Amino acid sequence: MSAEIVAESRLTTRDIRRRKGGVPIVMLTAYTAPIARLVDPYVDVLLVGDSLGMVLYGMETTIGVTLDMMIAHGKAVVRASSHACVIVDMPFGSYQESPEQAFRNAARIMAETGAAGVKLEGGVEMAETIHFLSLRGVPVIGHVGLRPQLVHADGGFRAKGRNEAETGALLADARAVDDAGVFALVVEGTVEPVARELTGQVAAPTIGIGASPACDGQVLVSEDMLGLSAMRAPKFVKRFANLEGQIQVAAAAYAEDVRARRFPGPENCYGGANGSSKAP
Ligand code: KIV
Repeated sequence: MSAEIVAESRLTTRDIRRRKGGVPIVMLTAYTAPIARLVDPYVDVLLVGDSLGMVLYGMETTIGVTLDMMIAHGKAVVRASSHACVIVDMPFGSYQESPEQAFRNAARIMAETGAAGVKLEGGVEMAETIHFLSLRGVPVIGHVGLRPQLVHADGGFRAKGRNEAETGALLADARAVDDAGVFALVVEGTVEPVARELTGQVAAPTIGIGASPACDGQVLVSEDMLGLSAMRAPKFVKRFANLEGQIQVAAAAYAEDVRARRFPGPENCYGGANGSSKAP
């Protein structure tokens, strides 16, 4: 950990809420304990995103992700972190039916993982549910713009706000979930002027992904920015490392050493009582 980062206590949803217009909010996804542990000191929010279905499980979309999967990964991320505010995505089908269904499942997520809140996709149509949750102690991050759980309804993953009608709908969605009480708002896949307008219209801080620097913060999928995702990264991703290349180099070196009987060497073997290399 670099010297200037001192993790005193976990950031809260209120801390994040207060960052509107201030120092940009840094959010990354984490699905597993190792990634959570490594990135936690550097970020404000760790998102256990349902993108884990595609990134970890090789699914085509996020539609097949279940509540149990989210809870299992959420637990791992909370256990392995101590600084960032941890938020868990509500998967498709776990909240759209009714405010009561959403509360029941959000309560399970928070109670079983220890996360500080949930994120759910939706605009005007989810405002009542977000209000219901917020009044009952469930902090919510909204998610408007490109909504991966609507991939089938939308006919693909498409950026939003490229014409007047889409822009109007996106701004109405953002205002509706803001009024309903979200403490932050993910804005995915839109053009800069729309992101700027939207950020100016809502009280909650906006966190962009493919939504320009006009937002109050940014989020990326960790595997994308680490150069670890099998899929071709979208235009909005910046690869800050090429771990895929490093893993391939390491795997090739390991295979070569095993085949050449260079590994394991004496330093990797247990010493027996009589100096043999048998494991104890
Ligand atoms: O599921 C996810 O990881 C997300 C982020 C990319 C915002 O929703």
